[in-house]
Amino acid sequence: MTMTTPTWSLRRLHTVDAAQIGELAGLLIDCVEGGASVSFMLPLPLDRAVAFWRRVAQGVAAGERALLVAEDAQGLCGTVQLVLEQPDNQPHRADLAKMLVHRRARRQGLGAALMRAAEATARECGKTLLVLDAVTGGDAERLYARLGWTKVGVIPGYALYPDGRPCDTTVFWKAI
Ligand SMILES: CC(C)(COP(=O)(O)OP(=O)(O)OC[C@H]1O[C@@H](n2cnc3c(N)ncnc32)[C@H](O)[C@@H]1OP(=O)(O)O)[C@@H](O)C(=O)NCCC(=O)NCCS
Repeated sequence: MTMTTPTWSLRRLHTVDAAQIGELAGLLIDCVEGGASVSFMLPLPLDRAVAFWRRVAQGVAAGERALLVAEDAQGLCGTVQLVLEQPDNQPHRADLAKMLVHRRARRQGLGAALMRAAEATARECGKTLLVLDAVTGGDAERLYARLGWTKVGVIPGYALYPDGRPCDTTVFWKAI
C-alpha cells in the first residue's frame, strides 16, 4: 500500500458563506457524478446543489446542524454533517449525514478523519448516540464498520443510485 501524507485540514463551520456554498455544491456534484447515492439523481444542476447547501447553511446558522469541512490546496474537498436537532425524547442523539469526499482526495484517510472529527464534535455537543445509513456494499459501509459502528441491518431497495438503479441501505449506530 502506498502511504501518502495528508494535505488537507479539517474545521467546523459555524456560518457558511456564498463562496463556501459554491465549493460544497461542486463537491456534492462530484460525488453524485461519481455514482454516490446521496439524495440526488443525475444530472445534478449547479443551482439545485447550491439550493441544497443554502438550506444546510440555514440549519447551521440556527444551530440545528454541525457542519465539518476539509480543505486542500484546491479548496473544500470533504464534508460531513451532524443533525443535532432531534425530538424532545432524543436529546442525546444525532444523525450523521452527507459524508462526502471529493474523488481527488479519496483513499488517503480523509473519510476516517472526518468521521473521528464528527464524533468528537458530537460529544462536545452533548451527544452520546449517533445513527447513520449507507449504501450496502459501498466504500462508506466499510469505513463505518472499520470505525466501530454497529450494523443494525439492511433495508432492501431503500433508495436509488444517481442513474436510477435501486440500492439497498445499511443502518448503523454508535455509542460515543
Ligand atoms: C465513502 C467515502 C466518504 C470514503 O472517503 P475516503 O476519504 O476515501 O475514506 P478513507 O481514505 O478513510 O478510506 C477509504 C479507503 O482508503 C484506504 N486508505 C486510507 N488511507 C490510505 C492511504 N494513506 N493510502 C492508501 N489507502 C488508504 C482505507 O483503508 C480504505 O480502504 P477500503 O475502501 O478498502 O476499506 C468516499 O468514498 C465518498 O465520499 N464516497 C461518495 C459519497 C458517499 O458515498 N458518501 C457516503 C454516504 S453514507
